[in-house]
Amino acid sequence: MSVERFERDNCWHCSLDCGRIAELSAHEVCPEFVSGDELRSVSTIVADPPWLERGGGRIQRGADKHYSLLSADASVLVMQEWMKSYEIAENAHMYLWVTNNHLEDGLKVMRDLGFRYITNICWVKPSFGLGYYFRGQHELCLFGVRGRGSQVKTDDNGVSSIVKASKRKHSQKPDEFYDLVERRSAGGYLYMFSRSERVGWYMEGDEVGVL
Ligand SMILES: C[S@@+](CC[C@H](N)C(=O)[O-])C[C@H]1O[C@@H](n2cnc3c(N)ncnc32)[C@H](O)[C@@H]1O
Repeated sequence: MSVERFERDNCWHCSLDCGRIAELSAHEVCPEFVSGDELRSVSTIVADPPWLERGGGRIQRGADKHYSLLSADASVLVMQEWMKSYEIAENAHMYLWVTNNHLEDGLKVMRDLGFRYITNICWVKPSFGLGYYFRGQHELCLFGVRGRGSQVKTDDNGVSSIVKASKRKHSQKPDEFYDLVERRSAGGYLYMFSRSERVGWYMEGDEVGVL
């Protein structure tokens, strides 16, 4: 990542008044700044694809009520295209959210993107959702690495594999999850299929900023 003198009022990355720049004097260098035509360095990728969840029955309850959906193969193509705009480190981490009935697709998607599955994280919710056999009360996020994952791992020895947090909007992931990623994995961070923004993270998706 090339670092240049920072001569703008706001953070180049989030384009908001994030507060970070206020701490820098005019001649200091912003460590986040990269000139426009350079690839942005990323060591940790998060992805939350729009899995084909159409729901059943007469009442429309699937994810298609909230946003457009993609097959697993189409999601891979979209993500590969985005990843070309970043310099993804040789040693990198990936967090991939899956719906419970797309677990096998998730494992394949992770492989197709060049990562090997290691373990998973479980988001435990305080109340029931829908479900045929079991009333859903959790979501899984697959964790994988490419190269030597230990190179990207932070020193924190106390990161749990469980996130306990309430539901918010449909499919919106809790803030506690971002905190977990930042505690466990080195940046830069790239979030594919995001709807929100977060200081210090690169976001991709057709709804970035709607939440
Ligand atoms: C599961 S949601 C992401 C939820 C997000 N992680 C959050 O916490 O709010 C998937 C997102 O992918 C977006 N999406 C669907 N098809 C897309 C496409 N072809 N290109 C870019 N984004 C797409 C949807 O609009 C939706 O915002």
